[in-house]
Amino acid sequence: MKLNEGWVPVGLSSSIEAGTSTGAIVEGSEIVVWRDNSGNAHAWEDRCPHRGMRLSFGFVRGDHIACLYHGWQYDTAGQCRYIPAHPTLDVPQTIKVPIYRVEEKHGIIWTTTATDSALPAADAAEITPVRSLYVDRPVDEVFLAFEQTGMTGIAANAGKLVSGDDTLFLAFQATTEGKTAVHIVLCGSAAVYGGAKQKHYAQWAEGLRFELEAAQPVAEVA
Ligand code: FES
Repeated sequence: MKLNEGWVPVGLSSSIEAGTSTGAIVEGSEIVVWRDNSGNAHAWEDRCPHRGMRLSFGFVRGDHIACLYHGWQYDTAGQCRYIPAHPTLDVPQTIKVPIYRVEEKHGIIWTTTATDSALPAADAAEITPVRSLYVDRPVDEVFLAFEQTGMTGIAANAGKLVSGDDTLFLAFQATTEGKTAVHIVLCGSAAVYGGAKQKHYAQWAEGLRFELEAAQPVAEVA
């Protein structure tokens, strides 16, 4: 799914701490995902309007993100607020980074440029993160492989997998051509699902990745 087609997962919420940034790719579009010091997540085009440096290489200062190259600082609306080489300049409003909508649901950060799409629903109020899995196979193939393990698709890029008393929620992100990220969480609290269960499903997902990349038949979840 492309950014303008609906909500796309770009990472586990737990993977980005307050005051940090990282890069994500959706169907070839580069995105900076960052969290300000108040803990709010942001997703923008990963390109500084000055000379095009990736903002994901930059650093967060309070509610601004600063570009690594010449230090231009942008507020949470993407507006440039400070240019170190011209500290007294009233920065023109036209210097702005394209920003995207962001939601954090089911322990996952989602973003989109669409205005009227709904997030896939999960049953649980509490979530335990398992892992993000990066697979060198196209998203359709990866989605199908998870369906073969018993996952039920609940949206074009999300699914639910019930295994005994456990329920997994999975969100699929097409990154670059032929590559996919799968963000996996357990529905339920960390007090119940942290530790052994997390590890079990992280290892199962890793095994599935090996099978997929080796084009082996995939094993059902146990
Ligand atoms: S390229 Fe970002 S501040 Fe110059």
